[in-house]
Amino acid sequence: MMRKQTMTFLGLAAALAFLVGCNKPGSSADGGAGGDIIKVGEYASLTGSEASFGDSSHKGTQLAVDEVNAAGGVLGKKVQLLTEDNRSQAGESATIVKKFISRDKVVAVLGEVASGRSLEAGPICQQSKIPMISPSSTNPKVTEVGDYVFRVCFLDSFQGAVLAKFAQSTLKAKKVAILHDVKSAYSVGLADYFEKRFRADGGQIVANQKYSSGDKDYNAPLTAIKGANPDAVFVPGYYTEAGLIAIQARSLGITVPIFGGDGWEAPELIEGEATKKAMEGCFYSTHYSPEDKGAKVQTFLQKYKEKFGKVPDSMAALGYDSAMVLFDSIKRAGTTAEPQLRDAIAATKDYEGVTGKTAMDEHRDAKKPAVIVTIKDGQFKYVETIAPSQL
Ligand code: PHE
Repeated sequence: MMRKQTMTFLGLAAALAFLVGCNKPGSSADGGAGGDIIKVGEYASLTGSEASFGDSSHKGTQLAVDEVNAAGGVLGKKVQLLTEDNRSQAGESATIVKKFISRDKVVAVLGEVASGRSLEAGPICQQSKIPMISPSSTNPKVTEVGDYVFRVCFLDSFQGAVLAKFAQSTLKAKKVAILHDVKSAYSVGLADYFEKRFRADGGQIVANQKYSSGDKDYNAPLTAIKGANPDAVFVPGYYTEAGLIAIQARSLGITVPIFGGDGWEAPELIEGEATKKAMEGCFYSTHYSPEDKGAKVQTFLQKYKEKFGKVPDSMAALGYDSAMVLFDSIKRAGTTAEPQLRDAIAATKDYEGVTGKTAMDEHRDAKKPAVIVTIKDGQFKYVETIAPSQL
């Protein structure tokens, strides 16, 4: 009797496990591509200090997933996006991506915006041979991790050169002071690339000062910068500190233009009257402009606005493009198995994205134009586009 009950129970448990297994086809040993679902993991800074980045990037990614699913999915399967928040904190991205790979059996990973966090998760994807596509990490080291790590944006070697050219030809600056964030791989790299190019073109770096993300008082480095009497100040960092730096620079009497890179792009950069005033006339480089009248940008803009009620920024556009490049690659590969999917991503040649044509080079990086934006009358305004061929 006892034995029979146990047997029945075991039989029931087996049947249940089978049913659960059927509902979660992606969790089987087939690399997440079984059944009618394709699982993709996205790690993002949805909360914490850089939440603006993660939120935008995620919304763009989500829009791509919804669009592809509405059109019948990929290879006849629906895409399931698993999104996890790393709270903008070091250490979290590695943990999340490990979970995506071992527990959820995702076929690919999308993320991150900040180079430091992409550098954390990249080695895990590489080791497990699960492709990772970063939407917007620009530090060259990100894809040097190995042949499973890709990006759909330009590099800081290019962005640094764009800004050096811009400082020289548009700002007519001969002497520039730099203030960079020692805690950010992105900031350290971009400062370095800018400096090399600016010097090579005959410019002078009259001060190179440091801060650490989260600092509130910039008086010491800014006083040193003021003493060096630059024609412009370069602040390669994130929007989280740029506003405060600009306010303190202005109150110290530094009146020259302050400029930055894509890390400045967030509505928070000009939040509040004091920041707006301090930022007036400042510039930064980024990946796309919603003022672009091209059909691809305008369609994306309209769909994004309908869904989220706001204008998409560069991170949203790149989040969208990163997911679309992945889906396009899965279609071309005809499978989510490896190494076929990796090879198909590497073979991306002419994907027409919102941020321009995306082609993977031999280092798994994309070559794309940069856009210069200024703050005029308290608003972001498109200035010019600089293509790789113009440098
Ligand atoms: N490029 C930055 C980095 O690598 C992140 C970023 C991308 C910021 C796009 C703003 C816009 O860290």
